[in-house]
Amino acid sequence: MFLLSTPAGSTRPLSLSSSVIKSTALGVTIALLSACGGSDDASSTQPNLPSPPTTPDRPTVDSDWQPAGGNATIAASVAQPFLQIMPNLPSSALGGVSPGRELFITEWTPAGEGRALFDGVGPLFNANACTQCHSADGRKPVYAANGQLTDAILFRLGDKQGAAHAYYGEQLQHQSIDPSIATEGRMHYTATASQNGKPAGVTFDFTPTDSNQPLGQTAISGRISPQLVGMGLLDLIPEADIIAAADPNDSDNDGISGRVHWVDDDQQQRVGRFGWKAINISLRTQNANAMSQDMGLTTSVFMAPNCTVNQPICWTAPNGGTPEVSDSSLDAVTDFMTALAVPERRIDDLSTFNAGAKLFAQVGCASCHTPKQKTGDSARFPLLSQQTIYPYTDLLLHDMGAGLDDGVKEKNAESYEWRTPPLWGIGIVARDPQARFLHDGRASSLSDAILWHGGEAQGAKTRFSQLSTTEQQTLMAFLKGI
Ligand code: HEC
Ligand code: HEC
Repeated sequence: MFLLSTPAGSTRPLSLSSSVIKSTALGVTIALLSACGGSDDASSTQPNLPSPPTTPDRPTVDSDWQPAGGNATIAASVAQPFLQIMPNLPSSALGGVSPGRELFITEWTPAGEGRALFDGVGPLFNANACTQCHSADGRKPVYAANGQLTDAILFRLGDKQGAAHAYYGEQLQHQSIDPSIATEGRMHYTATASQNGKPAGVTFDFTPTDSNQPLGQTAISGRISPQLVGMGLLDLIPEADIIAAADPNDSDNDGISGRVHWVDDDQQQRVGRFGWKAINISLRTQNANAMSQDMGLTTSVFMAPNCTVNQPICWTAPNGGTPEVSDSSLDAVTDFMTALAVPERRIDDLSTFNAGAKLFAQVGCASCHTPKQKTGDSARFPLLSQQTIYPYTDLLLHDMGAGLDDGVKEKNAESYEWRTPPLWGIGIVARDPQARFLHDGRASSLSDAILWHGGEAQGAKTRFSQLSTTEQQTLMAFLKGI
């Protein structure tokens, strides 16, 4: 664990431990790939596909692989690949990144405990450090024994019209800073077995601290904490590119109608891109939202505490400043998030990997999990400008069908709509037998995650299930390597 070694209130950045910035083995990886030709080795193992979709603009396979995250790529062998800082950052950029990392790993304390820079957590919150949910190893375990849940899963509350709960608001906070302040309550889960063609999953139920505040008709949407990969790169994909890939009316008739999550921002509409429903338009807003909803920290972006008007105790509890997190701290956290690296692909056998990439495109996974994107320009992090990257997402919302509809609309994303999650690094996550997938972690394996796909992804799922066992294994080998 990284413990805070600075004196209370100090602004001195922690020096980065030597494990943070590692030189990459990239040069070697690239040399290996090109030694194998790096081109289309897959044609010799042309898979026998049931009914290959014939959409003309279906993405083609790119097996002339560039580094997975452009300049932000780190070696796949790094022990804890997810909260690493990209290589070669100039020392000037570290001025923000390094204190940002400190703010990310510190355990925030309640107001008035003498740590001005790191106080103000709560009064209601889910966790007191970003690292309690976002792990350097992958995903934190969420499902414990006896229906208990860890702090690394949180719950959005709402309904199909987008109305939050009158008492609890839009997110449940299960902790409070002081025993005199009642917590909101506790979620539990029940594992459900696979039946009637439905894969194994979970359901949730809620025990309120105050029995006079039942959830009533309000629905529960569980959210596991994603691994954080190449966040700055995703932030830099031009809005125009995301918009251009949308096809809200499915005018190309491929059954896939990804749409932009248009989010109101002051007077204008912006493209939502972060979070399971793409409710946040930028990395900075996402971070401010996490501080607000998950930790009870106010920022200039979200000045009000995370309490509803029906929770007066929240408004009278001491606060750690107005706002509790200064703009310079928020910017520093955003710098750290922006500088997060992307682990390089793990390829055991290039021809299998390329054959898997081809199957991934042919069954239609790549129609949402867009393999390749290009970043725009960054004045602050020029190394991230104009990078070809492989995040496997279109950052669009898709109707994923009734199975994944948990009844909570958020901003303009319907209860059944989800943002295509980036898949880079997913194979590293999947190495952990406890790892969970999909927004609420209901899937305990990558293949169960695929089986839950419905709606616009129904066709791709069906074609996947019609592949031969060997072809499925080839596709899975690819998925584990990206
Ligand atoms: C209680 C657990 C928890 C804490 C604490 C937490 N997060 Fe998160 N984080 C999540 C969850 C869950 C999501 C997905 C939220 C959603 O879509 O509903 C998320 C999403 C994100 C994302 C977007 C990822 C993506 O792929 O779109 C970023 C960036 C992020 N968090 C940064 C932070 C930062 C910075 C902090 C600390 C200030 C933090 N988080 C604290 C649970 C947490
Ligand atoms: C119509 C768009 C679409 C298609 C086609 C599609 N996906 Fe997805 N995929 C999504 C969305 C949206 C989610 C998130 C759903 C959720 O969390 O409830 C997702 C989730 C996943 C996940 C879990 C990711 C995580 O972070 O837990 C995996 C793995 C995955 N998809 C693989 C595939 C594969 C393999 C295929 C092809 C067989 C495929 N997907 C086809 C949209 C799509």
